[in-house]
Amino acid sequence: MKFSLIFGFIFGFLISIAFAEAQDKLIFVQAIWRHGDRSPTGTFPNDPNQEGNWTQGWGQLTEWGMRQHLDLGRTLRRRYIEQLQFLSPDYHNHEIYVRSTDVNRTMISAMSNMFAMYPAKASDAGVTYPDVNTWPTYQVEGQKVGYVPIPIHTINDDIDYTLNPDMICPRQDRLWNYVTQTQQYLNLTRDNQDLLNKLTAITGMEITLSNLWVVADSLFIEKTWNKTWISGITDDMYKQINETNDIIEYWNNGLQLEKYEGIDFSIEIPKIRGGSLLWSIIGHIQQKIDCINNPNQDSCGFFNKLKYYVYSAHDTTLAALFSTLRLSHTNWNEDGYPHYSSAVTAELWQMVNGTYYIKFVYFPLDPVDNTGHLQENLVIPDCPDPCTIDKFIARSNDFKPIPSGAELCNTLPPTLPAKPPLTTTTNYKVFAQRLSDQPIVSSKMGSFWEYNYNAALFQKDGKIGLVVRVQNLKNDSIPFEVGPSHLAVSTITYTNGTISATQTTNQTFTLMQPSEACGTEDPRVTYKNGIYYLFYTAYDCNAALLSSAITANPFDSNSWTRFSSIDLPLRSWSKSGAALFASDENGLTQDYLFWGDSSFPVGGIGIALGQRGKWSWGDTGDYLIKIRNDSFDSNLVESGATPLKLNTGDYLFIYNSARSGNSTVKPGWNLQYNIGYAILAGSDPTQVLQRSDQPIMTPTLDWETGNTTDYLTPNVVFLEGLIPDPNGCKYANLSQLGNDYMNNAECFLGVYGGADSHLGAVQIIVSSNASIPHSSTPSPGTSPTTTTSSGNMQVLSLFTLLITAFFNL
Ligand SMILES: *[C@@H]1O[C@H](CO)[C@@H](O)[C@H](O)[C@H]1NC(C)=O
Ligand SMILES: *[C@@H]1O[C@H](CO)[C@@H](O)[C@H](O)[C@H]1NC(C)=O
Ligand SMILES: *[C@@H]1O[C@H](CO)[C@@H](O)[C@H](O)[C@H]1NC(C)=O
Ligand SMILES: *[C@@H]1O[C@H](CO)[C@@H](O)[C@H](O)[C@H]1NC(C)=O
Ligand SMILES: *[C@@H]1O[C@H](CO)[C@@H](O)[C@H](O)[C@H]1NC(C)=O
Ligand SMILES: *[C@@H]1O[C@H](CO)[C@@H](O)[C@H](O)[C@H]1NC(C)=O
Ligand SMILES: *[C@@H]1O[C@H](CO)[C@@H](O)[C@H](O)[C@H]1NC(C)=O
Ligand SMILES: *[C@@H]1O[C@H](CO)[C@@H](O)[C@H](O)[C@H]1NC(C)=O
Ligand SMILES: *[C@@H]1O[C@H](CO)[C@@H](O)[C@H](O)[C@H]1NC(C)=O
Ligand SMILES: *[C@@H]1O[C@H](CO)[C@@H](O)[C@H](O)[C@H]1NC(C)=O
Ligand SMILES: *[C@@H]1O[C@H](CO)[C@@H](O)[C@H](O)[C@H]1NC(C)=O
Ligand SMILES: *[C@@H]1O[C@H](CO)[C@@H](O)[C@H](O)[C@H]1NC(C)=O
Repeated sequence: MKFSLIFGFIFGFLISIAFAEAQDKLIFVQAIWRHGDRSPTGTFPNDPNQEGNWTQGWGQLTEWGMRQHLDLGRTLRRRYIEQLQFLSPDYHNHEIYVRSTDVNRTMISAMSNMFAMYPAKASDAGVTYPDVNTWPTYQVEGQKVGYVPIPIHTINDDIDYTLNPDMICPRQDRLWNYVTQTQQYLNLTRDNQDLLNKLTAITGMEITLSNLWVVADSLFIEKTWNKTWISGITDDMYKQINETNDIIEYWNNGLQLEKYEGIDFSIEIPKIRGGSLLWSIIGHIQQKIDCINNPNQDSCGFFNKLKYYVYSAHDTTLAALFSTLRLSHTNWNEDGYPHYSSAVTAELWQMVNGTYYIKFVYFPLDPVDNTGHLQENLVIPDCPDPCTIDKFIARSNDFKPIPSGAELCNTLPPTLPAKPPLTTTTNYKVFAQRLSDQPIVSSKMGSFWEYNYNAALFQKDGKIGLVVRVQNLKNDSIPFEVGPSHLAVSTITYTNGTISATQTTNQTFTLMQPSEACGTEDPRVTYKNGIYYLFYTAYDCNAALLSSAITANPFDSNSWTRFSSIDLPLRSWSKSGAALFASDENGLTQDYLFWGDSSFPVGGIGIALGQRGKWSWGDTGDYLIKIRNDSFDSNLVESGATPLKLNTGDYLFIYNSARSGNSTVKPGWNLQYNIGYAILAGSDPTQVLQRSDQPIMTPTLDWETGNTTDYLTPNVVFLEGLIPDPNGCKYANLSQLGNDYMNNAECFLGVYGGADSHLGAVQIIVSSNASIPHSSTPSPGTSPTTTTSSGNMQVLSLFTLLITAFFNL
């Protein structure tokens, strides 16, 4: 910006104060500001500047940030107290109300601001503040003044629809998911793929457009604070990071996006992110005017005397408000988000003839000294001056969250038109062969736990491991009634076609949380880039919630870091998560979570989508697989293991199922659990290409039918652990495949629970009649054999990142 231009603005503005506004009357002011300079809210794993390198740790206001707000307070005092003589020179509690987001840096910003807004005269010592040596006094323009505490109000940040644009909001998650499907997003990813790959290698975490801000933000702040950047980032890269991130910030706010499948992002996204704030401002104005017309209403006790209402928030809050004002930029007339401690005020004026109008004044941070503030008028494109209240309300209706921000957030946008079903000429054959008739983990074989079942499988450094659900009876003389279940690790030995495993000991995961008072259940593991992601069910004795934990060392049960319950807010009960992560190898652009089971109460396995590399899931409300009447899966379907890629490019998805009708020794139990399969399309894994007519496995062995009180649940085979068989098809009997299918055979190693009591091993064999070029390497699918030595470090930092990703900028 040119300096003369700014002077022109200010000069013109002072003239306008002197003349036009001399007759008009200022009635009410609302201010919205961003906090001051802060430390990063988190960073990437390899950053040499970690939390300990920042004075107060992540995301905190710095001394400089406080100074910026001192200046803003002084600037606002100058306009509203000294020039316009609108507010009282001293603090009067009825005149002002300050609301902040529930975040340290916005609260301390508000406190710093109030310091400069309302210094108390020395003569007020002993009147408005204590006249004692230990009470803070300070100098303002050579005068000694005293500190008067001013209250700052707040509400829970997760549900702060007014000030936190990144509150919990399934609708916004879904809309963003649509954005990531647009050609604009795909093109931008493509055009920056080299940069993203380089950053992924440098930072130690997968960088995508959606989390690029983490890199941009850390580098920007490190530069501001003269800290050393991680090596490998050139000035050109930084420029590209900044410019690309600016585009993403526009899109985050619904700007500059084309319509997609009839959805106008420029209305839908601002309505969610900024609509509640816009209408909070309008609501205050309406109440103020109503109370001027009719001051004796009970509800006017607060508004009659109120003159100044403050919202202390974030750059994202200001940008969201700007987007509801249809400004073309995320920062009034600049790229990027509003700078530290920038503020906008919404002034309510009344003309001599009685008409009310609104005027927005912007106080951006002065780019020259980065501490002072400038002042300029904001012109609202669809409401030029004078923007009367009636006109302003009419133009704002598009952005009104109806019926409320909270309810809108919990209403999903229209689903996109169903894609035409994929068809394939490829036909698959899938069958199962037990590796042994004996269990591999069992109390009869010396395990510490009575029941060992439902296990996840993983591989690291050529070793195979299990995460096993383990459980004991509550009281040894009462069958079927069990205590909480836990998770334990076991190691598999699998050579020469013979499989065995170490028995579970009393060592279990240290995951236990209050939400797990009644146990941790049903583990499933998905591997990606050195990290093992565990999905399991946390049961608090009332509700089950799908939860997750991560580690780089899956054999060490103490190394798992519990992450959180997974945010699937449309359901009060969640479980059974089989994840399929996007990667460069599989070419998927988003993550998939196939979750839940058909008993709660919807009839299918649900589909949630995640942004690649970002840890949040938006439930689609759609189903991958539903129950089928008159079939082996007529009573229940539930996810099996993580889907695994086949040599055709499609995915093998094993699922569990039940039908009713066979009575057992367990009172009231007449279900039979069977294992089925589905083939998911490689280009769109939400589409099922083929599904089993008959179960590939059904309880037949004694310890699977389990029809005595020694077993926990009769008639169950249940599989949730599957990896490509490390021995390939060496030990499989392929004779039943037939000639057309023989060459394409791929073998998988599975581990399943029998009668919810013992664990057994099975081979799943898949083949197709597709013509596939064959390579000499036998091992199918992708399976990890090595991890980086910095794995542990990576996990801790990843954890920090995931947590901090929930906080605002
Ligand atoms: C961060 O702090 C650590 C520990 O004090 C120090 O060794 C390291 O040099 C600091 N990093 C930078 C980039 O200053
Ligand atoms: C705020 O500060 C408290 C300690 O004063 C700290 O425990 C907390 O983590 C901080 N919260 C945020 C969001 O920075
Ligand atoms: C995406 O890129 C293609 C190829 O460069 C181009 O033809 C197309 O117009 C782009 N689409 C959008 C929406 O940017
Ligand atoms: C960083 O270095 C510049 C140039 O030496 C200096 O002007 C600035 O004050 C420094 N910033 C901080 C935060 O120390
Ligand atoms: C980012 O790029 C924009 C131009 O696209 C520029 O105005 C701005 O100063 C840059 N920001 C930083 C922090 O370099
Ligand atoms: C008041 O004056 C303004 C500006 O001259 C004009 O636009 C408006 O219509 C007038 N309102 C009434 C109620 O006369
Ligand atoms: C277990 O159950 C039996 C039979 O009901 C009862 O006698 C015994 O006290 C119970 N033991 C414990 C530890 O509760
Ligand atoms: C596997 O079988 C081969 C041939 O039967 C035998 O030479 C080898 O020792 C066996 N290995 C193990 C670990 O049992
Ligand atoms: C676990 O087993 C070991 C060895 O059997 C025993 O010393 C220890 O007390 C047990 N711990 C628990 C918590 O049961
Ligand atoms: C399945 O059976 C239920 C209950 O008998 C019935 O309501 C439903 O219409 C049937 N669905 C199909 C697809 O036949
Ligand atoms: C009941 O069990 C028998 C014997 O295992 C089996 O043949 C039959 O299919 C089962 N019926 C149902 C409805 O599950
Ligand atoms: C299991 O045992 C019960 C009681 O002995 C019997 O009624 C039932 O038919 C048996 N079920 C199966 C599948 O064997």
